[in-house]
Amino acid sequence: MHISVVHGPNLNLLGSRQVELYGLATLAQINSDLEQIASELGLTIHYEQHNGEGALVDAVQAAATSDALLINPAAYTHTSVALRDAILAVAIPTWAVHLTEPNNRETFRRVDLISDVVIGRTAGLGAASYSEALRKLVSWLRMRAKKPHL
Ligand code: DQA
Repeated sequence: MHISVVHGPNLNLLGSRQVELYGLATLAQINSDLEQIASELGLTIHYEQHNGEGALVDAVQAAATSDALLINPAAYTHTSVALRDAILAVAIPTWAVHLTEPNNRETFRRVDLISDVVIGRTAGLGAASYSEALRKLVSWLRMRAKKPHL
């Protein structure tokens, strides 16, 4: 099983960016935690991080050959029709992840163009959102493999 992990804008700054909100874990640490879970669960993972919307659309399109996509669209969650359309176009199981719970923050973050086009969403657990999201996504894929009619 091969999973694409796509990180959106400003997530390259994790570890120094608004640490009171996002915590001290760097993106490299988050990726390495995911790598550990991947080897435990027998998966392969490919990571990308982009700040630009177009590059993120390209990364989602490139994930078409993966079994699933795990994505933190970051600020584009709240604005990007292009990213939403890319997820719909690629049509592989996609799980959204957020370190914080955007619904508990500023009002503009309650607009979410992604959550209704993904199979699941994990938010608000800090860096642990990613590991939780990956485990849930893999459970979903394995359940679907056993019960393909669902
Ligand atoms: C975020 C939440 C978004 O609202 C914000 O723009 C981000 C990160 C999160 O992981 O909590 O950049 O996606």
